[in-house]
Amino acid sequence: MLVTLIAESKQMNQTLSAAKAAKKDEFYTQYVDIQKEVEAYLEYDPDTFRDKVVYCNCDDPFESNFFKYFAANFNKLGLKRLVTTSYDGSPIAGKGTLFPEYFEGNGERLKPKALTVILDSVKDEDGDGSANVTDVELFLKRNKASRIALRGSDEYPGGDFRSPECIALLKEADIVVTNPPFSLFREYVAQLVEHRKKFLVIGNTNSITYKEVFPLIKDSKLWLGCTNFNVGMFFEVPEDWLHFHHIDKQTGKKIARVSTSCWYTNLDHGRRHQPLSLMTMADNLKFSKHKEIKGKVAYDRYDNFDAIEVPFTNAIPSDYDGVMGVPITFLDKYNPEQFEILDYEYSGILRTKLYPVQTQVSKKGKQSKVKKLNDVCAIQVDCPPSDETYYIVDGEYFIAPYKRLLIRHRNPNMKRSQK
Ligand SMILES: C[S@@+](CC[C@H](N)C(=O)[O-])C[C@H]1O[C@@H](n2cnc3c(N)ncnc32)[C@H](O)[C@@H]1O
Repeated sequence: MLVTLIAESKQMNQTLSAAKAAKKDEFYTQYVDIQKEVEAYLEYDPDTFRDKVVYCNCDDPFESNFFKYFAANFNKLGLKRLVTTSYDGSPIAGKGTLFPEYFEGNGERLKPKALTVILDSVKDEDGDGSANVTDVELFLKRNKASRIALRGSDEYPGGDFRSPECIALLKEADIVVTNPPFSLFREYVAQLVEHRKKFLVIGNTNSITYKEVFPLIKDSKLWLGCTNFNVGMFFEVPEDWLHFHHIDKQTGKKIARVSTSCWYTNLDHGRRHQPLSLMTMADNLKFSKHKEIKGKVAYDRYDNFDAIEVPFTNAIPSDYDGVMGVPITFLDKYNPEQFEILDYEYSGILRTKLYPVQTQVSKKGKQSKVKKLNDVCAIQVDCPPSDETYYIVDGEYFIAPYKRLLIRHRNPNMKRSQK
């Protein structure tokens, strides 16, 4: 009996955490954010999407703004084809319109079925002189063949990006654009890379340091998009959500803010080629606007990496030719012609030393035994700081700046500093 109860409660916990993870995935991207991002690529290369098959998976045809944006701009972008797939049981599928087969023959089942919608052209269907999203709606109503039910497989439900049907569609695609479920981001990106696809997708900024993602950034196989880094994006969320930021006055939809979201891509854009304008080390130490730098005799050096600590991207010295530890926000300004990314602190390839178990002292004075210093860039300090967590090793004190990338100038501006 006890065993059954434990098993049931374990099962319930699993179901609850699966539901919690699924719930976290229900953030719907706003049209304006998609438009801003896509247009930034067009500024760099107006033909970015020309003659391309764009695939929006993890989307709901007609409910998703990805579908709406690409359908409405089909001709302007010069698309060859737009393919959208919805996920079986997605809570918003079928709410926006349109297709009776979402629920047709659904029996007792309340969930809508997964669909793929394929557009090869967008024409003026209603004869009002322009070809827009209303024409797409009309076209889809008239042409049942452009929408196909997705059945899934034994392993994956219909519309699951891992299902054989979706993989077949992926193979035919040139560029994948969507906001995939955050909870499956690692797997999602791995699939795009495996299939060598171009992509533009939304993810969590924390994903930068995932062991599956960071090597791609380091090897220039993935980089940040153009807009909305580290500013907090607003997403539409399901009607039954109790916690949200505000209600959109125009649409009446609930909107939540996700402070840690950004675009990831492997499409080229102009910002990655803009060099970061920087001061020399001497000028930074004299004139920096950061009190942490101005007036210092030298930049701090790490105790366990042969590198200097640069706490702000705009405080990177233009003339330093060694390794520098910078915050991950550096990536938003990263120009691969100007800098080389060497490593992320955690992987420790460049680490020069290991510490024995340390005593960690929290801001509130709580002490615990940890091994943390071996995963981070550590700076030795003369005395224990009062306003941040520190570490004690053999009577010496250390602090650990938050998440550092290790970078180096490709061509440090040595000339100016030698003048
Ligand atoms: C973050 S939401 C974004 C939805 C839409 N792309 C947008 O931005 O408006 C992620 C979507 O992925 C769907 N989804 C969840 N798991 C999935 C899976 N395994 N395969 C495909 N889609 C999935 C969810 O139902 C949800 O609609």
